[in-house]
Amino acid sequence: MKVYQIPKGGAGIESVAQVERPDPGKPGHRQVLVKVRACSLNFRDLGIVRGSYRMPVRENVIPLSDGAGEVVEVGPGVGRVAAGDRVAGNFFQRWPGGNPAPDVHTSALGGGVDGMLAQYVMLEEEGVVKIPPHLSFEEGATLPCAAVTVWHAMIEHAGLKAGDAVLLQGTGGVSIFGLQFAHAMGVRAIIISSSDQKLARAKSLGAAHGINYKTTPDWEKAAMEFTGGRGVDHVVEVGGAATLTRSFHAIRVGGKITLIGGLSGGATELNPGLIFARRANVQGISVGSTQMFMAMNRAIEVSAMKPVIDKVFDFADAVPAYRHLASGAHFGKVVIRVS
Ligand SMILES: NC(=O)c1ccc[n+]([C@@H]2O[C@H](COP(=O)([O-])OP(=O)(O)OC[C@H]3O[C@@H](n4cnc5c(N)ncnc54)[C@H](OP(=O)(O)O)[C@@H]3O)[C@@H](O)[C@H]2O)c1
Repeated sequence: MKVYQIPKGGAGIESVAQVERPDPGKPGHRQVLVKVRACSLNFRDLGIVRGSYRMPVRENVIPLSDGAGEVVEVGPGVGRVAAGDRVAGNFFQRWPGGNPAPDVHTSALGGGVDGMLAQYVMLEEEGVVKIPPHLSFEEGATLPCAAVTVWHAMIEHAGLKAGDAVLLQGTGGVSIFGLQFAHAMGVRAIIISSSDQKLARAKSLGAAHGINYKTTPDWEKAAMEFTGGRGVDHVVEVGGAATLTRSFHAIRVGGKITLIGGLSGGATELNPGLIFARRANVQGISVGSTQMFMAMNRAIEVSAMKPVIDKVFDFADAVPAYRHLASGAHFGKVVIRVS
């Protein structure tokens, strides 16, 4: 079968290479063989290929955590899915629900274990979910990392409800899914971006307010003003070093910040006084469990939500797809069609 792989340590985007590997064979106990139809890219995939990702990455890994396809065959003991089902892999193959095991990162697709950018993959039964019936394979392939992460942040951590306000940073995969979930739930979304054009698009998707963080670097003041001096209930923190302190000034007293990413760098000085001054609740998260993915898919089905796909690339064009994500020109998700 055709797969892509990344040399050990990562040698940059141009080192992502298509190679032949043996087919995965017959599924073993509680394993599921999937014919991959589409994959999507995440910021994390750039870190892996550049060698800057902090979590375990196996040698010559097949990249990408995100993919969807159809079940070809199931192994003994599999009861949750059957041949012909349309499925996606959960980011962590061994986090069915509850608290994750300490070594959960060793089961991350496209990192600790081979990922989805291949014609066939062998997944664990506890690490597959059926994709919502109204979604194409391309749309289903956008869900495992960005969408599950922001679902975890907004629902599991922040417990947002209608009438609350959330602040989303940028217009990449995580934040645009956050915007769509907010819109579906009646939550007021404030979104910041480097581009007025992208902010206009975000408003057409239901954003209540858009702030350009280049022309308004003190966006936290604009967010506070927009909420009438109350502050937002929740920040989905993907910016990291350059945004974290500002996020504390954007939340209401007792508000929540979910630490997700470090787009502007990971390390920064933080005044701990801000945490008690704002009575802030801060939690870091790492994607989510198979159960969270299933709960999210029910919500996507009920609300008939369609993921926002920026561009779809052919399997032969995986390297240009990586380049496109790295350019930052995208709005929403970048997809690779596999077959
Ligand atoms: N903890 C987890 O489990 C988890 C899961 C998923 C993602 N992440 C992390 O979350 C972050 C976002 O991931 P993604 O896949 O959504 O990325 P992405 O699709 O590449 O989106 C990146 C976008 O973020 C915006 N951005 C860049 N620098 C910014 C800054 N300084 N302030 C505000 N916005 C900024 C830009 O939007 P504009 O062009 O609109 O300015 C950029 O296009 C990454 O750091 C990723 O590693 C973590």
